[in-house]
Amino acid sequence: MWTNAGALRDDALVDYVQKLAPQLKQMTIFPSEICNYRCNFCHIWGDTGWALKEPQRVIREQLDIAVLKRFIDQVAAVNRNVGVILTGGEIMLYQHFEELVSHLRSKRMNVYLLTNGSLIKKRINFLIENVVICNISIDGPREYHDEIRGKGSFDTICDNIEALLQEKKRRKKMFPYISINMVLSPTNYKAAKDLIPSLRERFKDSTIILHDTKNPWMKKRDIAVNFSPLLYTTPERGQAYAKQMKEHLNVDVSPAWQGFVEEAIDIDTQYLKKDLQDIWAAEGVDYSDYVDIHDYYTDIHNVFGRSKCVAPWHELIIRRTGDVYPCVDLPDYKLGNIYENSYEEIWEGERAATFRDYLKTDNLMMCNRCTRLFADAETF
Ligand SMILES: C[S@@+](CC[C@H](N)C(=O)[O-])C[C@H]1O[C@@H](n2cnc3c(N)ncnc32)[C@H](O)[C@@H]1O
Ligand code: SF4
Repeated sequence: MWTNAGALRDDALVDYVQKLAPQLKQMTIFPSEICNYRCNFCHIWGDTGWALKEPQRVIREQLDIAVLKRFIDQVAAVNRNVGVILTGGEIMLYQHFEELVSHLRSKRMNVYLLTNGSLIKKRINFLIENVVICNISIDGPREYHDEIRGKGSFDTICDNIEALLQEKKRRKKMFPYISINMVLSPTNYKAAKDLIPSLRERFKDSTIILHDTKNPWMKKRDIAVNFSPLLYTTPERGQAYAKQMKEHLNVDVSPAWQGFVEEAIDIDTQYLKKDLQDIWAAEGVDYSDYVDIHDYYTDIHNVFGRSKCVAPWHELIIRRTGDVYPCVDLPDYKLGNIYENSYEEIWEGERAATFRDYLKTDNLMMCNRCTRLFADAETF
C-alpha cells in the first residue's frame, strides 16, 4: 500500500530538493511493450490504454540489445549499486530477455521484475540465478482476477509461483523474493479482503505475509502481498498537464496520460477503506501513515504526504524506442535517446537540468497520482 511516510516532508523536503545533486540509483527499462494479456484497467493495453491507438507499432518496436548493452556499460562505468526494474508489457516476451538480464548481472546490477507471471515456468532456474525480486500481478481471488486478466490466468500464475517456490526450496535459494501486487479497481475492490485467505488456501505450505511498508523485511515469508490503488486522472487534470508541459517545458505530450483517465471511479470508498483497515489490523501492519484511500479516490486534486518528487535526480526510464525519460509512466519530456546519445549526454545534459530545475519549484499536474510520490519510504 502506498505511504505518506518519507523521511522528509513539507518545507524540509522542498529545501532538500533545492540542494539535491543528481546521482543515479535506479533504471526502469521497458525493452518492449508487447503483452499477452489485456487487463481491463491497464493504462497500456486496457480499455483506455494508449497502446490501442497504435498497436502494430507498439508490437513491432523492441529495443536493440546491442544498443541497450552499450548504454548499460556506460552507466556501469561511472555508477555503483544501480538497481534495474524490468517491465513492459510482459517483460518475458522481450526477445532478448535472458541476454539483457545476464548482462545487467555481469555489471553487478540488481534486477527486479514486474511481470504478469504467465511465463515464469519456462525460466525458473534462470530467475533463481539472476533476479532479486519477482513482482507478480494477481488482482484478486480466481473469479475477480480472471475477469480482469483473462479466464484461467489465476490458475496458470499460481501454478507458476508454486513451481518457483518448490524449486527455491529444493535448492535452498533465497532469491527471487516473490511479491504479489493487487491493483484496487472498481472490478475487484470488494474482493481485497479475500485475496490473502485465497492465497493461503492455494499455497498451503507457504508463509504469506502482507507487505509492511515501515518494516519491509521484518517478517519471514515465502510470498509478500501488496495492495496498490489505481493510478488515475480526470480529463480536466490531464488537459491541464498537457497545457503546463507545453507552456513551461515546450513539450507536446504523448497520449499516455489519457490511459489513466477515469471519468468516474465506481468504488464505494468508505467500504474499501474499512476493508483495508481490517486487513492491515488483522495482519499486524501499522497503517497510520498510509494514503487515505477515500481521499485518494474522491478528490483528484489532493496531494498526500510527499509533496515533491525526487525521481529525476535518481532515476532514468528507457522505453522500447530508446527514448529516455525522467518519469516512469509519462513518456513526454524526452531527455535523449540511447541510439543517439551517451549516458553522460543524457544524464548531465541541458534537458535533464531544465527538467530538474522546473521540479525544484513546481509539480506537474500528473505528479500527485504517481507511484514515485507514494513509494515506500526508503525508495530514493
Ligand atoms: C503495466 S504492468 C507491467 C508488468 C506486467 N505486465 C504486470 O501486469 O504486472 C506494471 C504494473 O502496473 C499495474 N497497472 C497497470 N495499469 C495500472 C493503473 N492504471 N493503475 C495502477 N496500476 C496499474 C499492473 O497491474 C502491474 O502491477
Ligand atoms: S499484463 Fe500488465 S502490461 Fe499486460 S495488459 Fe495486464 S497490466 Fe497491462
